[in-house]
Amino acid sequence: MTTPPDTGPWNLPPGLKRSLPFYAHKPWVKLGSPILLFDHLLKTYGNIAHYRLFGTPIVFINDPEYIREILINQASSFVKERTVRRMKVLLGEGLITSDDPIHMRQRRIAAPAFHRQRINAYADEIVTCAATQRDTWQPGQQLDISAASMALSLEIVARTLFNTEVTGDIRRINDEVNTIMDLYNFIVAFPRLESFLHLPIPGLIKFRRSKARLDAVVNRLIAEHRAAAIDKGDLLSMLISSRDEEDTQNAGMSDEQIRDEVLTIFLAGYETVANALTWTWYLLSQNPEVESKLHAELDAVLGTGPAQRLPTLADYPTLRYTEQVFAESMRLYPPAWAMGRMSTQPVTLGPYRIPAGAHFFFSQYMMSRTPQYFPDPLRFDPDRFTPENKAARPKFTYFPFGGGGRQCIGESFAWMEGVFAIATIAQRWRMTYLGAAPPVPQPKITLRPRDPLMMQLAPCI
Ligand code: HEM
Repeated sequence: MTTPPDTGPWNLPPGLKRSLPFYAHKPWVKLGSPILLFDHLLKTYGNIAHYRLFGTPIVFINDPEYIREILINQASSFVKERTVRRMKVLLGEGLITSDDPIHMRQRRIAAPAFHRQRINAYADEIVTCAATQRDTWQPGQQLDISAASMALSLEIVARTLFNTEVTGDIRRINDEVNTIMDLYNFIVAFPRLESFLHLPIPGLIKFRRSKARLDAVVNRLIAEHRAAAIDKGDLLSMLISSRDEEDTQNAGMSDEQIRDEVLTIFLAGYETVANALTWTWYLLSQNPEVESKLHAELDAVLGTGPAQRLPTLADYPTLRYTEQVFAESMRLYPPAWAMGRMSTQPVTLGPYRIPAGAHFFFSQYMMSRTPQYFPDPLRFDPDRFTPENKAARPKFTYFPFGGGGRQCIGESFAWMEGVFAIATIAQRWRMTYLGAAPPVPQPKITLRPRDPLMMQLAPCI
């Protein structure tokens, strides 16, 4: 006997009476600025609210308990929502965009590359890349720290995870990703984009060309690895040689699957950390007391003057304040600024009953600026992340890496990269922000500064 479909009754949270396009003239409805809408919903209706878009209920949540319900307790009732699914045109069936069972299999295969022990082995490479970059800089030099951080982070991911030299090819990944980020709002807003990709619409032509160039770079990388026919022990070798033990046919991944995975990890792994570093440099430049405390830790752990040395893996547990600085920077400017899910069956959240097919959004940016959990939220204060202060807050008031079964696979990697890049660069340089106004954050796939973020360098004495 089949169970009849669940048709309600539904009890949606409070929210907008009419479909979103009806409010198009309001200052809080602006394409490319969903944070304005989130803010309006939160202020008007509280920590759970809804609106409709073409009939689909969309629920915005700013409550740590409800977020836990979605990401952990009721995770099996959700898949990624439409915006992420639309990114399949770029990322194919990689770890971020795929659903189970593909996702589970890919995660099993990629996991060993991100194990703690493995990440530890990357420490020296991260420090070497950061030291090489900082040693090319000159006193008084003015630079766009956003571009510099992107270059550094791309280099680190290429060397550690893909064991490859950063050639013009790899740098091209950065250019293509920048092009695609500029087209992001267009891609996300385009209904059923997959079916229209072939049309000669200027934005789509640009996207198609960028994606083709990206694919070509990644395909070359895979072919080179295959041709070398030795297991270099890096992530790409692992993906190429993987055999899924739970798969009875014990088949490896197709080249297409490997390409999707490589592209996904490149994108997820360098853009995010680069933006976190960029915002960290900006926040340090605005908060001299924090900057001094950071330098005091670096001097104490890594020495000063001729006795100064580069950080090593053994220093990692001692660079506590450096880690707190990175954590606090991701509170104010979380690189992954929002997450979304879609219900595949009816779900109950507190008093609310919401149908299958509803979309759910929650935002790291909004949550970690909520005064109830982070008093005086705009103040940059790394002491919010002392072990005692962290323990005093509910989980999911701070979730820069998500949570549950889809939690960021690269989290340990990101912390290590962040801490070592900050330590290696800050032990040599201080930065002064040259902009006339604060940088404007732009919520694309990641939270980027809208414009180049210009800094002037002064050596530490
Ligand atoms: C500061 C840096 C980073 C931040 C803030 C970040 C954030 C996130 C978040 C929030 C998710 C979960 C998305 C969701 O559930 O909808 C995620 C997933 C993911 N991240 Fe990261 N990430 C960072 C660095 C990295 C790095 C360094 C890598 C790899 C080298 C990486 C690879 C991935 C992958 C592959 C996924 C998909 C995991 C899955 O669904 O199984 N990320 N990341």
